[in-house]
Amino acid sequence: MEQQDLFRHSLTQKQSHGVSEWGTFKDSLKAPVHRWFTYPAGFSFKAVEHSLEMCGIQQGQTVYDPFMGLGTTNVTAKTLGINSIGIEAHPFVFNIAKTKLNWEIHAHDIHHVINDISDKFEHALTTLPINAIEQNFPELILKCYDEETLKKLFVLRNFVLNDDMTPDIRDFFHVVVTALLRNVSKAATGWPYIAPKKIKTTSLNKDALTEFNALALSMLHDIELIKIESGKRYINSLHAPILGDSRNTTDAIRNQSVDHVFTSPPYLNNFDYSDRTRLEMYFWGNAKTWGDISEQVRTRLITSATTQIARTDMKYAISPELKDHSPNIADFIRNAAHELSELRKIKGGKKSYDLMVIGYFNDIFQVLKDVYRVLKPKTKALFVLGDSAPYGVHIPTDKIIGELGVKIGFSDYAIEILRQRGDKWKDNPQQHDVKLQESIVTLSKG
Ligand SMILES: C[S@@+](CC[C@H](N)C(=O)[O-])C[C@H]1O[C@@H](n2cnc3c(N)ncnc32)[C@H](O)[C@@H]1O
Repeated sequence: MEQQDLFRHSLTQKQSHGVSEWGTFKDSLKAPVHRWFTYPAGFSFKAVEHSLEMCGIQQGQTVYDPFMGLGTTNVTAKTLGINSIGIEAHPFVFNIAKTKLNWEIHAHDIHHVINDISDKFEHALTTLPINAIEQNFPELILKCYDEETLKKLFVLRNFVLNDDMTPDIRDFFHVVVTALLRNVSKAATGWPYIAPKKIKTTSLNKDALTEFNALALSMLHDIELIKIESGKRYINSLHAPILGDSRNTTDAIRNQSVDHVFTSPPYLNNFDYSDRTRLEMYFWGNAKTWGDISEQVRTRLITSATTQIARTDMKYAISPELKDHSPNIADFIRNAAHELSELRKIKGGKKSYDLMVIGYFNDIFQVLKDVYRVLKPKTKALFVLGDSAPYGVHIPTDKIIGELGVKIGFSDYAIEILRQRGDKWKDNPQQHDVKLQESIVTLSKG
């Protein structure tokens, strides 16, 4: 059964100002710790705060995010002293989230590393072997930086990877240098997907070492700020960031052990999360090619982009389990996929949206079942998500997730619209005029 207005109704007029941005990362860009690394898919920490408050989640209780990303849900829970679990399948993104949740970093250790690097930096820079840059970085990286900057970044990379540091401090500086990468790049637009051509003039006079020091200090300051904001509530809370797959968490999360779920799954909009960190993974030497990233990341994520799909793969048939639970939804997905496979023959790009839609709902179905399993009775799971219209075929993701949830066992669902949204489809050759929205789906467990 569909209800309205569970999420927003308790807001005062003042609070409701800006709610339309809750599905975006805007607020989090200004908030300590949240702002360390931007993720196009992040949501506002204010939405998490409101959800926890509205559902009366208290210290000692546990919130779970099955698509943790950079950990907005978990960092927010920590400021409130609420326990959290987060599952993230992208190893690079997972490491950033884990680091954002570690507030036990000591200032003197950070200062020690900053001073040590400053002392040794000039010598390391001037003794770099000839061709060190060309030998260590693929072309994409060479195109994103001028030679001097890249040499300095390389020296910083070597300090972080090779110097004697505790794992916590190394993780911290790994995030500092990762955040620095886009800050000092001369590439203006269109990357890392397209080899960059435009020059970003604001980066031209930036010195990598100066920026590194400033960033490390501001991140350290952020930890102090967030602890003050938390008013010591964080001290006794427990947080478990887990590198894993939210389609099946039986090894990691006990049945009926979670009091609340707040999450944002990948939208069905052909965004390739593994490509978001291509520049970073190439820089750190985690990957050298598209194939490396596919192996380490792309194949581990739920299906939400055509770049994950090989047309010969049998997993892109609607799963028997989904058909059994919900023949009507299976019919809808089958019809949409059929329409998309016909459109594929005549549209530009020959995109496998037909299989993407099937793969997406097969995967989401598994996640919903697992979320139901881990939730205690009388609790709620909130999903921030957008609908979609590949080749102009409207897929009401929010409604389908709500209906699937009810078939799995949730007692009801509500959909509340956060905002109408522009969509990347608009700029594509597959342009369409379907109005898209971003909403919150609330599934209630009876
Ligand atoms: C919309 S983003 C979540 C952003 C997050 N709310 C934040 O604050 O950064 C979706 C995330 O789901 C992750 N993901 C995709 N498939 C997954 C899976 N099977 N298990 C766990 N995480 C997965 C992606 O890597 C991505 O980081």
